[in-house]
Amino acid sequence: MTPPEALSPEEARAELERLASRIAELDEAYYRDDAPLMTDAEYDALRQRNAEIERLFPDAILKNSPANRVGTAPSSAFAKIRHRVPMLSLDNVFDTEEFAEFCARARRFLNLPASPRFVAEPKIDGLSISLTYENGILTRAATRGDGMEGEDVTANVRTLRDVPQTLHGEAPAFIEIRGEVFMSKAAFLELNETQARLGQKIFANPRNAAAGSLRQLDASVTASRPLALFAYAQGESSAPVAETHWDYLTRLKDWGFVVNPLSQLIEDENAAAAFTTQIAAGRSTLPYDIDGVVFKIDDLSLQRRLGFVGRAPRWATAWKFPAEQATTVLEKIDIQVGRTGALTPVAHLQAVNVGGVLVTRATLHNEDEIARKDVREGDTVILQRAGDVIPQIVSVVLEKRPDGARPFAPLEHCPVCGSLAIRPPGEVVRRCTGGLTCEAQVVERLIHMVSRPAFDIDGLGEKSILEFHRDGLVSGPADIFRLPAREDEIARRDGWGSLSARNLSQAIEARRSIPFDRFLYALGIRRIGETNARLLARHYGSFTEWRTQMLAARQIGSDERLALGSITGIGPTIAEELVDFFAEPRNIDTLDELAGMLTITAPSGGLSGGLSSGALDSPLNGKTIVFTGTLQAMTRPEAKARAESMGAKVTDSVSKKTDFVVTGADAGSKAKKAAELGIRTLSEEEWLALAEGG
Ligand code: IVH
Repeated sequence: MTPPEALSPEEARAELERLASRIAELDEAYYRDDAPLMTDAEYDALRQRNAEIERLFPDAILKNSPANRVGTAPSSAFAKIRHRVPMLSLDNVFDTEEFAEFCARARRFLNLPASPRFVAEPKIDGLSISLTYENGILTRAATRGDGMEGEDVTANVRTLRDVPQTLHGEAPAFIEIRGEVFMSKAAFLELNETQARLGQKIFANPRNAAAGSLRQLDASVTASRPLALFAYAQGESSAPVAETHWDYLTRLKDWGFVVNPLSQLIEDENAAAAFTTQIAAGRSTLPYDIDGVVFKIDDLSLQRRLGFVGRAPRWATAWKFPAEQATTVLEKIDIQVGRTGALTPVAHLQAVNVGGVLVTRATLHNEDEIARKDVREGDTVILQRAGDVIPQIVSVVLEKRPDGARPFAPLEHCPVCGSLAIRPPGEVVRRCTGGLTCEAQVVERLIHMVSRPAFDIDGLGEKSILEFHRDGLVSGPADIFRLPAREDEIARRDGWGSLSARNLSQAIEARRSIPFDRFLYALGIRRIGETNARLLARHYGSFTEWRTQMLAARQIGSDERLALGSITGIGPTIAEELVDFFAEPRNIDTLDELAGMLTITAPSGGLSGGLSSGALDSPLNGKTIVFTGTLQAMTRPEAKARAESMGAKVTDSVSKKTDFVVTGADAGSKAKKAAELGIRTLSEEEWLALAEGG
């Protein structure tokens, strides 16, 4: 990357634009979807680069500079609450020198002869919340959102044990208290285990788990999640409550809040580094994730005089810790085989504690990544965990490389079934060609098959599939439907019992009848995701018809092959995957065995080639629609199903072939693209009028 000082003014401008849109995209994933796209350290590096370029090229600063923005606009799933005092962010420092600069700036601004006193608090890695109390009673709780407007999460917050419903003792008639909602590391690991068992979303780190748990539409879900709160700041208040931040923390405790017990008064700026070192040293033994220490000038009148610049106060800063690192030995590079045969290298490590989480594995992504870092078995490696549980390998300690360590050689055969493993030109992933003859793919496909969008069998998740497969109860898809016949045997297994075995049987029986599109998706054929499964199901109408046509389509040049390739939305690559699937006799046997045990019904959301009569004369028949932004009246899956039942095709990206783009709240780049291409956009109301009329 070009260093900022080497950029020309034009390049600087272009780079700032690129950074602004990238940071906005990252913020959206992080704040709105609770699903970060990169580590915090990488994100901070982008923001720092932005700040550095802005400093060198002040003329190029954008109106929508990320420096003036925190978070992202609230999701429209929640009512909005405007913050009376904006909820801002903190600037960061990373070392003694930068902290000294921060202090010097504040002293210059105030013309102070000596260092002010500070309060230091651990910087909790959670999400900030604003709590409003009127006459001592909790009336409102809001997330930060974009700092100006947050989401109303009052009902959810009421379920938190650490949030007093009423303030103890005297308090101003109106007061807003701020703090951080978080989840402990232990609670996070436990939650993920439960989520995995139920086949539900796994969270990347405790912070995302906390955010995801708080931003639930159903408050009883929040109530079931162990969320905690540390209070640490004030918003609007009808009367002053303290003269120093330290006294304010005492008041918070009196009112019934939990204040972080490690908070401390720091007499002057020279004492700050020692405190930071002390907290950093104890970081991994804390039950919750922290990513630094926040220093706040204690005297509230000085805070008021200092005020804010951009998105951060001049009276506080976050001294951030580097990502947590550890050194260990990489014992083995193992190759995992996924459902579609993708070979993924995984590092098996000598167990090591990284930031309070015991780590034994790290992903190596792909063989190019291994080559780039030249990671070899036996190497001593530096690991880094940036909030997340699965760490990355940062680098190899070359001095410690054992004699004879050999570079990693990509496998030419699948480690599980021995079939050829090939890496098609231009792709980074190597794949096993064994299909259903490969045990690893069988297990992964079974897990996929019972998952929510497929057969959706309650109580049959990854763990049980692995167990049943290991013990020979399930070796192929059809065996799932033979499990009810073995209910007694299952009931006698460790960890089961008659009730859970009965429930499992019932859950399986309930799924013996399945719409054709779900069945197609459940097969786990590469590139046949939910959308393609639906397209195919609608086109062929029934399992029998599809099967007949696919068998015929194996013949190159056949009408059936041509017909398959010309289905809108199904390109030649997808057609080839299907033909390949049917070229393998074992796949056909497996398919027939499974189908023989089921009732495969018409595709959900409307009949095949022949659409329902309502669909034929609907204005949406044959049209291609893209939904973007958040819809208020129905969920995205519902909207999609509705459109499809009216004969429309729903796709994810906007192109010249798109007929309508339905723009919900906060529609982003897709709406823009529609405008550029001159494609008709519909508001949610217009869409509803169409959907209901049709
Ligand atoms: S004070 C005006 N104190 O860090 C600044 N923030 O990067 C008010 N955070 O949005 C924030 N622990 O979510 C403050 N002890 C602490 C904190 C803390 C964590 C978070 C908070 C804030 C973010 C800023």
